[in-house]
Amino acid sequence: MLAKKTLARREAPGGGAGDRRDALRISELSLAVGTGERAIPLLAGVTVRVGRGETVGLVGESGSGKSLTARTALGMLPRGARATGGVTVSDVDVLAAGRRELRELRRTRVSMIFQDPRASINPVRRIGDYLTEGLRARGVPARAAAERALDLLDQVGIRDPGGAVRRFPHEFSGGMLQRVVIAGALSTEPELLLADEPTTALDVTTQAEVVGLLKEMQRAHGTGMLFVTHDLDLAAAVCDRVYVMYAGRIVEEAASASLFGAPAHPYTRALLEASPSVHGDKVEIRAIRGRPRALAESPSGCSFRDRCPLAGDECAETVPDHRPHGTSLVACLRPEQVTP
Ligand SMILES: Nc1ncnc2c1ncn2[C@@H]1O[C@H](COP(=O)(O)OP(=O)(O)OP(=O)(O)O)[C@@H](O)[C@H]1O
Ligand SMILES: [Mg+2]
Repeated sequence: MLAKKTLARREAPGGGAGDRRDALRISELSLAVGTGERAIPLLAGVTVRVGRGETVGLVGESGSGKSLTARTALGMLPRGARATGGVTVSDVDVLAAGRRELRELRRTRVSMIFQDPRASINPVRRIGDYLTEGLRARGVPARAAAERALDLLDQVGIRDPGGAVRRFPHEFSGGMLQRVVIAGALSTEPELLLADEPTTALDVTTQAEVVGLLKEMQRAHGTGMLFVTHDLDLAAAVCDRVYVMYAGRIVEEAASASLFGAPAHPYTRALLEASPSVHGDKVEIRAIRGRPRALAESPSGCSFRDRCPLAGDECAETVPDHRPHGTSLVACLRPEQVTP
């Protein structure tokens, strides 16, 4: 199959030669729930790579499968889901791993930050306990873990760490609590950080601070980061490379600098045109016609064709393979009509 060969041969647009062990490698991942006639496909042929120390964006509309994809790296599949393909974190085969191995993986190698810090932190436990539990589970003695918690809070810009460890989550603002969650996520020095819309619940100033902090911490630890967002401008600012998802599939992959200047997929271009920006000279915001589709309800052939201004009869025949166009890998039959 062309897509697989192309992906295997080619160097990542912005991610270097890929000769190091990757932090995350998802290859040709398909996911479905239910069986037989009632099977509902959720993801199809998703391939995503995150190198060590690299920041990789996963963007797309609501329901495109971003969170599902990110969660597979933790071995968190929907109940009753069947997966085919590969998911490897460092050298761990996640889809084949047993419960113990997955628990170990989550404790030591992968951390996840969710959109809403209040939903991911136990409201009746003190911040100090929240921060030390991961360290204690790794065998760090209590006193050293407590010192490390203070140090981490200091690093993420919490004033008075000594007071903060005795406080409860509701005593922090959303932005401050997200800093605490970042400190927790990085306390175990993971190889992979999954950030699923980590700043969507925050105001823009706090968002910029939290993103800056994430990048700084990630650089300091050499952590690979999968940054999930629906905000293209944010992805451009934060990421080295970006994958664009639509209806459970990756439709484009590119270095973020070229993706935003020269999109190759009509969906990427439509997303850019629909994204309000305070920069540049864009004046018109154009909504994408129709509504986002889940994989199960998408048309035959290219899933985007019923919303695509460039679609022709041949787009209905098969799902387009990924092929190079400019600096992108794109699943479209006519990318030259998007950006020549
Ligand atoms: N446990 C599940 N069982 C069945 N379908 C699911 C399950 N979890 C998610 N889905 C479906 O899979 C699709 C992708 O969901 P996902 O949460 O990955 O979207 P997303 O891209 O993260 O969207 P958002 O931007 O809204 O967070 C959706 O259509 C959703 O309804
Ligand atoms: Mg999501």
